Amino acid sequence: MIDHNTVQQILDTADIVDVVSDFVALKRRGANWIGLCPFHNDRRPSFYVSRAKGICKCFACGEGGSAVNFIMKHEQLSYPEALRYLARKYHIEIQEKELTDEEKEAQTEREAMLMLNEWACSYFEKQLHETQAGQDIGLSYFKERGFNEATIKEFRLGYSSEGYDDFYKAAVAQGFNPKLLFDVGLCIADDRGGGRDRFRGRVMFPIMNIAGKVIAFGGRTLKKDKDIAKYVNSPESAIYSKRNVIFGLYQAKRDISKSDKCFIVEGYADVISMHQAGFKNVIASSGTALTEGHIHAIRRFTSNVTEMFDGDAAGVKAAIRGVDMLLKEGLNIKVLPLPPEDDPDTFVRAHTFTEVEQYIEQNEADFINFKSSVVLKDAKNDPIKRTAAITDVVKSIALIPDEIARMVYAKECSTMFGMDEQAILRQIKQHREKYLEQWRKERQQQQAREQRMAAQAGENVQMPAGSDEVPPAPLPDDFTPEVGPADTPPVIATHISTSPASGVQVQEREVIRLIVNYGMCYLTDTQYNDGTVRPTTVLEHINNELMLDQMAFSNPLYRSTFETAKRYIEPYYKDLESFNQQLEERTRQFIAQEMAKHDDEDIEALDSAALINAQERKEKAVQARANVKAKKELMEFSSGYLVKVLCSIDDDDIRQLACDLATDNLPQLSKIHTQFAVIVEERDKLLSLVPDRLYNWKNALLVMKINEVKEQIAHASPEQLPQLMEHLQELYGVRHQLAAIIGDRVVNPN
Ligand code: CTP
Ligand code: MN
Repeated sequence: MIDHNTVQQILDTADIVDVVSDFVALKRRGANWIGLCPFHNDRRPSFYVSRAKGICKCFACGEGGSAVNFIMKHEQLSYPEALRYLARKYHIEIQEKELTDEEKEAQTEREAMLMLNEWACSYFEKQLHETQAGQDIGLSYFKERGFNEATIKEFRLGYSSEGYDDFYKAAVAQGFNPKLLFDVGLCIADDRGGGRDRFRGRVMFPIMNIAGKVIAFGGRTLKKDKDIAKYVNSPESAIYSKRNVIFGLYQAKRDISKSDKCFIVEGYADVISMHQAGFKNVIASSGTALTEGHIHAIRRFTSNVTEMFDGDAAGVKAAIRGVDMLLKEGLNIKVLPLPPEDDPDTFVRAHTFTEVEQYIEQNEADFINFKSSVVLKDAKNDPIKRTAAITDVVKSIALIPDEIARMVYAKECSTMFGMDEQAILRQIKQHREKYLEQWRKERQQQQAREQRMAAQAGENVQMPAGSDEVPPAPLPDDFTPEVGPADTPPVIATHISTSPASGVQVQEREVIRLIVNYGMCYLTDTQYNDGTVRPTTVLEHINNELMLDQMAFSNPLYRSTFETAKRYIEPYYKDLESFNQQLEERTRQFIAQEMAKHDDEDIEALDSAALINAQERKEKAVQARANVKAKKELMEFSSGYLVKVLCSIDDDDIRQLACDLATDNLPQLSKIHTQFAVIVEERDKLLSLVPDRLYNWKNALLVMKINEVKEQIAHASPEQLPQLMEHLQELYGVRHQLAAIIGDRVVNPN
């Protein structure tokens, strides 16, 4: 349990742009930030983040929410876990009570595994730095390889001692369940009822997920013995799936997104050496072929990838084979062959930063061109081999999703191979059709598999837990599905019920949407029964109106959201008071600063009367600017208040609704739009918007009532008729009045 004040402090501190930036590269777009959605395989930025509102949202897949929601979804955490995550991020101290045995058991397997790995990682680090064997064997090995202290710390390298079960014993003594040790693969059960350490006598490379959590280890032996595997890795587990994890991405992600490029190398040592040499946008597939999962992870940060490989024949072959996969996913791929005797690790250690930079500049080659020249060289002048070589290259080009890119390559190919461009284009087309057919089949098989699994699991189908799991990749743009719509329906559609009362529901939703987004905004001054005139917020105004008309939300979730919002009126006014004090202080400072600026140079040349005059004018202008600024800040504070509270509240339904409502109107503006058009924000139109939406709701209710009565009249007995007719007239009357209040609306009584 986290106490209320701490929760509030966490929510106040967490900055959505900052929180999301740890996982997604964001670019500023008007008042918002945008980036590639981490929840689906996004090709164009669909993910919007609004700092003012503290929320994010994907306009393609609909995922999003507050910082808490984002972390819950992205890291697969529960509500309190997400709060803890944010608390750690912002160094907010949480007093945690000691876990009871029950609670320990109740911890999900995943969390327990992560906890164990975190503990194990620090254990191995301590072994490396603080034990004699660790220093003599492990640390001296790393030093010999040229890793410095900072690098060792950053990658959290460690050492696992030689003993049969040193780690096993230490972990069990710490209270970890042996079964857990076996499940994450740190130990292996032996037939004596104990366990032996998987990594004994090895230096340790922790493998982290994108959030920096340790999900697996690679351990390198220090023995020269050829019979011993050089690397031992953690087995697949609930938290580790090789197919989706990239070594070094956590350490590299910021630099990848900054440079909009990443280097792919083969091994742990390559990543670490390059990182230390100043090339920090480097990751490794850890000896396995690249998968869609890997690419999905990379593409969040860049679509420009350069594969580095040894320049010997085997290295070139392997590189060419591995890269087709990347083409299919629409990445821009380059290759960088190294001198035959080098791998990235030895290469950067033998050269200076500038030399490496120069080498990259001179040797980085476009993949298709590189592949063409390699296969062409192999084929020499043998016509049959040449044909095969062309086909080989054409097959690669056909994988590229972008049609224009395919055409450009066809042209280049025709020059290189001395072949007719049209003939190459035709071949590309044929191969592409074959691929599409093949992918369609794979897709169908996968869907069938998913349906079978869903049927087996019953209604509650859950994606396997894990931030490393990826949803199936979307199909290429020129893929036409045989059945079903290609696009996901817009989010709002899921909220509109098709029941007869849906008109009312839609209007209710509009009103609750205004409450969530603008509830605490000042609307107007209202004279209350006790004669006082007080400023009234949107929420208070709506509440007054509903009380006057004895109305309530018919939708239970809207009702409870409304009630919850009202409970925040008092805290709001308290917070407002202190906000206002700070704002006043800030405004005073602003005015003082502005006045101190000598922007009108010739002020000193004026005589004293003119001087006073100029001074006064300046003061007025500055005052006016300060007022506008303060008003805007106040507005931002008020409009953000309920959004922030409700989107992070400890009630799943209300939180979800609030997030949906808060993101419904996040403007999805194009760059041009924000640059050249004046945007009238909803916030500035509340005075007409709120009464208008209330009117719509009341009107929808009346229409429903009127239709009910008409229905009754149709089936009424003669003696019931007069009363029903009277009732109907009454309703028409009310509707008329309503229309009159709202002003210029014309209401047709039919
Ligand atoms: N690898 C592995 N198991 C092995 C050999 C290699 O998992 N038995 C993986 C490791 O992730 C390794 C990568 O393949 O980092 C590349 O292998 P290699 O080039 O042999 O390793 P380096 O990282 O270069 O290690 P070192 O320089 O220490 O030899
Ligand atoms: Mn190496």
